[in-house]
Amino acid sequence: MISQRTRLDRFLSITTGVNRRSVRGILAQGRVSVDGVVARDIQQVVHQFSVIIFDDKVLQQNQSLYFMMNKPPGVVSATKDKRHKTVLDLVKKSDGVNLHIAGRLDFNSSGLLLLTNDGAWSRHLSSPEQGIKKYYRVALENKMTEEYVQAFRDGIYFEYEGITTQSAELTIIDDRIAEISVTEGRYHQIKRMFGRYQNKVLSLHRYRIGDLELDSALEAGQYRALSNKEVATIGGH
Ligand code: URA
Repeated sequence: MISQRTRLDRFLSITTGVNRRSVRGILAQGRVSVDGVVARDIQQVVHQFSVIIFDDKVLQQNQSLYFMMNKPPGVVSATKDKRHKTVLDLVKKSDGVNLHIAGRLDFNSSGLLLLTNDGAWSRHLSSPEQGIKKYYRVALENKMTEEYVQAFRDGIYFEYEGITTQSAELTIIDDRIAEISVTEGRYHQIKRMFGRYQNKVLSLHRYRIGDLELDSALEAGQYRALSNKEVATIGGH
């Protein structure tokens, strides 16, 4: 399987072992199809989910997979972990082939987690340039003040990376309960933002990414496939 976009002649040469010059001849003879259409252009770009057939042989046919999970706290957002259960352990073996996590949640965080085998889609989702907002509900140890709202909007300086966080929207619901949306996914980002005020995050739940809401029918630890429409709300294709 190719994870990146690549030229058709390169793909054919790698998968069949035929040199690039001979590949030109094969294409000129109309022996290759991409997604059901005869391909003659050596420069045609193919990707991970292009269906590529040479004579009658299927060289590539991968199904793209997209799932949303309601991640429970106490499970690691990783594919493997020596000590703890991972989110992939919650996925049926038949669904879990080659899945990776698109935007991790910390061990004790919960809520909307996306799993896919589509690298382009997850890169799009995680790229700060796309400005896709991730929405969280947060419970804090101490009371918040209105000061936080402007500070989060202006950005919090993270000394370790030497960066200022992008503008985040904080809505105070109650003294210790808030909703916050961020466009980045830096290491422990939200905890560290509240850490600026020595205010400990007691629980963090992601309930929405872009226009995609966590399905309220999913109990903690459950997951389901995304519809085509839901996949498209994230974009990246
Ligand atoms: N920010 C955090 O600190 N933790 C998460 O799990 C997600 C965002």
